[in-house]
Amino acid sequence: MEKLLIHGQRPLCGQVSINGAKNAALAIIAASLLADDIVTLENIPDIDDIKNLVMVLEKMNVRTTYLDKHTLRIDSRYMSNGCADSENVRKMRASYYLLGALLGRFKCARVAFPGGCDFGVRPIDQHIKGFQALGAEVDAKGIISIQARELRGANVFLDMVTVGATINIMLAAVLAKGTTVIENAAKEPHVVDTASFLNSLGANIKGAGTDVIRIKGVQKLHGSTYAIIPDQIEAGTYMVAAAITKGDITVKNVIPRHMDAISAKLKEIGASVIERDEEIRVIGCETMKPVKIKTLPYPGFPTDMQPQITALLSTVPGTSIINESVWDNRFRYVEQLKRFGANIDVEGRIAVVDGVDNLVGTEVEAVDLRAGAAMVLAGLAAQGETYINNVTFIDRGYEQLVNKLNAMGAWIERIDSDTPIQIMQEKVI
Ligand code: EPZ
Repeated sequence: MEKLLIHGQRPLCGQVSINGAKNAALAIIAASLLADDIVTLENIPDIDDIKNLVMVLEKMNVRTTYLDKHTLRIDSRYMSNGCADSENVRKMRASYYLLGALLGRFKCARVAFPGGCDFGVRPIDQHIKGFQALGAEVDAKGIISIQARELRGANVFLDMVTVGATINIMLAAVLAKGTTVIENAAKEPHVVDTASFLNSLGANIKGAGTDVIRIKGVQKLHGSTYAIIPDQIEAGTYMVAAAITKGDITVKNVIPRHMDAISAKLKEIGASVIERDEEIRVIGCETMKPVKIKTLPYPGFPTDMQPQITALLSTVPGTSIINESVWDNRFRYVEQLKRFGANIDVEGRIAVVDGVDNLVGTEVEAVDLRAGAAMVLAGLAAQGETYINNVTFIDRGYEQLVNKLNAMGAWIERIDSDTPIQIMQEKVI
């Protein structure tokens, strides 16, 4: 195991190239199982969640080959059946996409319950509602087992906007007989990217990116070569890094409109945000203003940027309010932020942040992927040294985070977990 040692208070200046979107790549890798020929995926991020999903596929006799670090070839023509029950499945939430893909291809699926970051209850009832509407029988006791004599198009009105269920129902419907309509669908960029990928295989999906998606079932799907979109959350994390260190960072290889809500909020806080075709430059400022934020499904402010923006607002004088409307328990990391001296009160889904002049380096835990990123951001801004344990969470979703930050002036070291730590005692008193 490793931990990070961050030497704080160094403004970050320079540029950073953004990798492919984790949450698009995970869905699209699963979707590749629906093709009856080879699929080549470009701009795949080199992160642990992807490697873990590839291992699950390998155990199902899918042949995967990395043509280079970011290009993956998937040949599922020799797959044995629709079973994916391994400890790798339990490591992440995105394993649930195997349900839709295997059901769509084999008309049956057996997948262990997915794992993933702990924000409280993470049900899959809407996924199951969609599969049942298409004609499947679902038994979710101990393992998720689904089967269908035949899949027929249906109308599904989702009870809430859910990325996972929207994508999973698309996966199950593309080879069904007839047309499926998903209403109250999620509109995230990774939902659109997955639909675009499926259409590149010969699927007939219209309306992705709106709240009504129509999937006209086809007989079969051929192979294709497809490039994953850039990661909006990785980009947003570096945009906040510029603001919290009062630096000047250009995030490159991005689709700026995917970060519109993040850019708008950073401008409201006082940072300068300059957009060009495929890049966004963020320049921090000395005097920042407190704001109110409510996380919402796309195009609202993304919940996956909530811990990162809260770390920033911890250093902004005045009172900011964060309303987490998507997850019922996504403020677990606040206890860790308080170790830096942050002044935050949490009541259910609301956090009230009274910004402090300085955060002070300390030892913290990364309690989940985006919380880990928030700890890094706080450490970059804090006086003295910060140690972050559970780096594996961060490695699940960020490629080369330490190297990318150090290339812009940060001083971060990856050290062995049992290295003794020296927190600046005089600062703590
Ligand atoms: C995806 O999770 C992302 N993960 C999450 O990102 C992200 O936070 C989330 O979407 C929201 O944008 C991946 O794409 C792998 P949801 P998902 O279904 O699909 C409720 C990260 O950091 N719900 O959109 O699991 C659910 O409890 C991760 O990259 C049901 O009630 O999220 C939540 O309150 C963390 N029943 C809300 O809907 C269901 O059947 C949104 O969940 C499904 C969801």
